[in-house]
Amino acid sequence: MKAAVISRFGQVADVVEVRDIPAPAVGPHDLLIEVRAAGVNPVDHLIVKGFMGSTELTHTQVIGSEVAGVVTAAGDEMTRFSVGDEVFARVDPRVGGAFAEYVAVHEDLVAVKPAGVSFEEAAGLPLVALTAWQALTEQAAVKAGTRVLIHGGAGGVGSAGVQIAKHLGAEVITTVSADGVDLVRELGADQVIDYRAEKFDELLRDVDVVLDTIGGDTQERSFRVLRPGGTLVSIVPIADVEAKKAQWNVQASSFLMRPNGEQLARLAALVESRELRTIVEAVFPLNKAVDALLKVERGGARGKTVITVRS
Ligand SMILES: NC(=O)c1ccc[n+]([C@@H]2O[C@H](COP(=O)([O-])OP(=O)(O)OC[C@H]3O[C@@H](n4cnc5c(N)ncnc54)[C@H](OP(=O)(O)O)[C@@H]3O)[C@@H](O)[C@H]2O)c1
Repeated sequence: MKAAVISRFGQVADVVEVRDIPAPAVGPHDLLIEVRAAGVNPVDHLIVKGFMGSTELTHTQVIGSEVAGVVTAAGDEMTRFSVGDEVFARVDPRVGGAFAEYVAVHEDLVAVKPAGVSFEEAAGLPLVALTAWQALTEQAAVKAGTRVLIHGGAGGVGSAGVQIAKHLGAEVITTVSADGVDLVRELGADQVIDYRAEKFDELLRDVDVVLDTIGGDTQERSFRVLRPGGTLVSIVPIADVEAKKAQWNVQASSFLMRPNGEQLARLAALVESRELRTIVEAVFPLNKAVDALLKVERGGARGKTVITVRS
């Protein structure tokens, strides 16, 4: 099968190649998914560079973290899906990536693809929507009336976060640059701050929850907009977290999302009820996987970049 792979860590343009490799082995609880489309995320180029764990690569690794496709085979003990089902998943990149004609995924990570959306739209959701869901419902208990600030509302996680927070009944404030303002308003944001023109920490106080997708100075300044006892949830690291919690009298944590098929099924229901949608910003064919990764690496996302593998 064709796949976008690396055999060593390095810069995207130097080490990612699209070539033929054997199809993946299917474990007893796995589905073999014929990939139709795969979402592209910052974590993919971080993996390529070797920033996500191991220091040395000992095998050929297929890149790609989000998939939508059709089940073509199932492991002997797989019970929940059938050949022919249209599904989507956040794959486990330690097992096999999504930028390939086939990927094997454990059934626990998979959900039925929402009806009425394309494979490209479905493929752009699992990682970002699960991240936003876990941040807002597990790391923080966002509910009706919670005042939430979501940084980077036009990006992958941010655009899912704005919609999920609205679904939960929150009042949603978000930061974007100027050309993302219309998009986040369309997604339901109640207050939009152009972070290049205005300083959010001079405008806001008494926020209950901040979802930080940015880090650095944005994260530092976020502490001061929280109410006492408020919560900062970050998806990037927080330096000196205990000292900051004490200084500002708030809760703060950073976390790594985990794949979860049951939660993904709940998110699929939100897609079907039109409370959650993917903004597909750019689509590349599999043989242009390098260009897709470079686009995401450049930043400035307005939704998701997606790779079409088979139409
Ligand atoms: N911990 C986890 O489990 C987890 C899960 C998913 C992602 N992540 C990480 O979270 C980060 C975001 O991921 P993503 O997929 O959302 O990335 P993305 O799709 O590239 O979106 C980032 C967004 O942030 C905006 N932005 C940049 N600087 C900003 C600032 N100072 N204030 C407000 N917005 C700003 C960007 O647009 P402009 O530059 O045009 O404003 C872009 O729209 C990445 O570092 C990723 O690796 C972690």
